[in-house]
Amino acid sequence: MRSVIFYLILVNLILTGCKPKPDSVSSINQMIWGKEGEAAIKLFTLTNRKGMEVRITNFGGIITSVRVQDKNGKMENVVLGFDSLSGYQGTHPYFGSLVGRYANRIANGKFVLDGTPYTLAVNNGRNHLHGGLKGFDKQVFRVDTAYASRDSVLLALTYLSADGEEGYPGNLKVRVTYVLTGENEIRIWYDAETDKPTVLNLTNHSYFNLTACRENILSHEMVLMADSITPADSTLIPTGILSPVSGTAYDFTTAHTIGERIDDVPGGYDINYKLRNRTGQLVQAAEVYEPASGRLLQVFTTEPGIQFYTGNFLDGSLTGSNGLRYDKHSGFCLEAQHFPDSPNQAQFPTAILRPGEKYRQLTIYRFTVRP
Ligand code: GLA
Repeated sequence: MRSVIFYLILVNLILTGCKPKPDSVSSINQMIWGKEGEAAIKLFTLTNRKGMEVRITNFGGIITSVRVQDKNGKMENVVLGFDSLSGYQGTHPYFGSLVGRYANRIANGKFVLDGTPYTLAVNNGRNHLHGGLKGFDKQVFRVDTAYASRDSVLLALTYLSADGEEGYPGNLKVRVTYVLTGENEIRIWYDAETDKPTVLNLTNHSYFNLTACRENILSHEMVLMADSITPADSTLIPTGILSPVSGTAYDFTTAHTIGERIDDVPGGYDINYKLRNRTGQLVQAAEVYEPASGRLLQVFTTEPGIQFYTGNFLDGSLTGSNGLRYDKHSGFCLEAQHFPDSPNQAQFPTAILRPGEKYRQLTIYRFTVRP
């Protein structure tokens, strides 16, 4: 009997090659990852039926790893991050984070809403960046729902941002729902409601590297469905105009490698593109292909803009997952969002939320391979 069982296990191992089985069931697992103050922090592992695996923590709603197949079926992590919670609790450039209350910059940390001036925490030179000194990326989220169905895996986190937090008006109830679909998509739904007029701009700040950090990102080929950018001053506050990309190093309306013209952009890319949707419908925003692995990332969003950032401030001082050293251009971000400084720029799509209104955003990161 024992030898029969041994034989069956052996046959199973040979057949599966110890790899995740294609079309196996999806699952969600959780473990206690550490503590933030008195709060227990969890790490969730979402696995779909194709074996794609995404890890998310309720600390900062952070996506800590995304393991997807390359053209040979090899599963590797394609985002920058840390192996332990302490990495995220320390200073880092928003790896995988859920950024809020206002992603990107607000000039001088000031804005006026319905005639009332507000002053926000200033944490980026003279400006407010990514929610301030303690943005959503450093907050503990409540775990609302975690389940796996046959086709997809879902994790919903909630956070109550109190009236006055980092200077923002209104109690803001935020819910972010991560869905890993059976088609290798990470769908991120953001919902929010407020009890006073406020401004908000939520995004995910994942840094991607489709080579799994074997190489930097400069040979990734990218298309952006965007015809103009919001040029910015030396502190990265938009000047207020829209500038066509045509004929410039910012033009990704047809495929170019990220590195091809990066030297023409002082400091590297860190710029907001205006997408081709004015009405909040879901549109494709970007497509990034990495030839050696065959991995293709497509981004879809309901947002009016996307910040393209090439990890210009990484300097080799951060040691990330698997002991990797993150350097300049180790990863790129495609942060679907409202335009920077919208609260001060009336001509930009509005980022105001009022009581009784519902904020809703959907952004999708879809992973496939080209043979
Ligand atoms: C965004 C900003 C960058 C930088 C990074 C975080 O992408 O636009 O300027 O602040 O976040 O380091």
